[in-house]
Amino acid sequence: MSNVALPSITLATAVGKDPGVLVIGLAETSNDQVLIGLPDDLAKGYTKAIGRELGEMAISLGGSSKNGKTVLVAGPSGLRVLVVGLGPIDVTAEQVRRAVGSAVRVVAGLDGASTVTISLETSEPGLIKGAAEGALLGAYSYREPSGISAITLVSANRKPEAKQALDLAVSTANAVATTREWVNLPANQLYPETFADAIRNLAKAAKLDIEVWDEKALEKDGMGGILAVGGGSARKPRLVKLSYAPRGAKFHLALIGKGITFDSGGLNLKSSDGMYTMKCDMAGAASVLAATAAIAELGLKIKVTAWGALAENMPSGSSYRPSDVLTMYNGLTVENGNSDAEGRIVMADALAKASEEKPNLVIDVATLTGACMVALGENVAGLMSRDDATADLILDAAEAAGELFWQLPIPEDAAPKLESKVADLRSTGDKYGGALTAAAFLSRFVADDLAWAHLDIAGPAFNTGSAHDYTPVGATGVSVRTLIALAHALAN
Ligand code: BES
Ligand code: MN
Ligand code: ZN
Repeated sequence: MSNVALPSITLATAVGKDPGVLVIGLAETSNDQVLIGLPDDLAKGYTKAIGRELGEMAISLGGSSKNGKTVLVAGPSGLRVLVVGLGPIDVTAEQVRRAVGSAVRVVAGLDGASTVTISLETSEPGLIKGAAEGALLGAYSYREPSGISAITLVSANRKPEAKQALDLAVSTANAVATTREWVNLPANQLYPETFADAIRNLAKAAKLDIEVWDEKALEKDGMGGILAVGGGSARKPRLVKLSYAPRGAKFHLALIGKGITFDSGGLNLKSSDGMYTMKCDMAGAASVLAATAAIAELGLKIKVTAWGALAENMPSGSSYRPSDVLTMYNGLTVENGNSDAEGRIVMADALAKASEEKPNLVIDVATLTGACMVALGENVAGLMSRDDATADLILDAAEAAGELFWQLPIPEDAAPKLESKVADLRSTGDKYGGALTAAAFLSRFVADDLAWAHLDIAGPAFNTGSAHDYTPVGATGVSVRTLIALAHALAN
């Protein structure tokens, strides 16, 4: 389904004759470091030729069992062996995902490396999935195709569960890569109209139903929030609905994503530094839409409706102003406190619209607040919900997927901060707890009797530092893995 060419990946029960670069592991036991995945014949041949064991050689060259640490060792007859640290030997899927991600990123930088074999004794399905995702995600780099065309994953597991784990990993990695690609596209190329076109293509490939509201349809339906935020830009806003409804599905999941293709702050203009990365402000929409296509590709028995609220937040003579009063889709009036708090405004309309179908669970994903980054840093996403059972459901999926989410409260004192003298509510609170007041605002647009969670991915959506493990520079695709894992858990 992806528009990004990731390498092919296949399972094999043993290391083949011509493995390309061979990746094996170095794991930590209570008193030693041990090699993982080195075939016996290769070990013997190596020791015979070099006079030392490969593990000793790797360590003497600076290798270690520290997760993600790599060292390249010359094997017999020109074979290149990359030894990657796994960390403690009782590995988790995420340990494997990270280690393999690091290894594949290193291999991608080697001269003439087009094929890779990964041999890490991964026989448990969860580890197969982790290794495959790490490999595919580690191979991604925006506009720098890695040169790796084929990956072989060695696993002794011959049962169908092994292939199923691989298929799950491939669909998941494709969705993450699609999300990364969309988020990395500059805002002069990807804007509401072209983003909607790209989503149409995705829908076509995944055989999904799609509905797009242009500015006229938004007007007709009274989407005052999306229209206000998009009003300042020459690029007109869109609302996109992508539907997957397999026969017999019992659970209806609604996913709503913030799709601000560029957030200049509007009339409350951002600083130069703050604005530079704001092409990433549609990461929530990209995630929910790409995840839905993957859920469909996997044929999971769950109904999913994904919504993208697409707009560009720009300053101009037609911008919405601080103090403007907007009438939202559900009829509530909102006093705009700050034009840079645009995400909650577009999400409010989309949440209200999505709620009409009375889904069993509503989840919104948004690069919503700098405050969430202040609270949790750049690598942890915030999760807010009105009930802990819903929060726990998503935290469990995140844990299974290997993504970092942390629950924040929606405290009782958040709602009063949003009181307005001129409208039903104001869009912004005071300078404290900004992630929480944003959640309290969104909550007003989801009927009380619906299960709902809000994921604030402002921190981890875009990596402004250097690449690490399976995480590249720029867009990360965070939340896609969690959403697919959640759909997997909820499907019948
Ligand atoms: N898109 C930003 C949030 C953001 C900041 C995402 C940094 C990723 C990295 C959002 O629209 C925003 O500007 N929020 C304001 C809200 C404030 C004006 C109430 C913020 O967090 O400062
Ligand atoms: Mn903003
Ligand atoms: Zn924004």
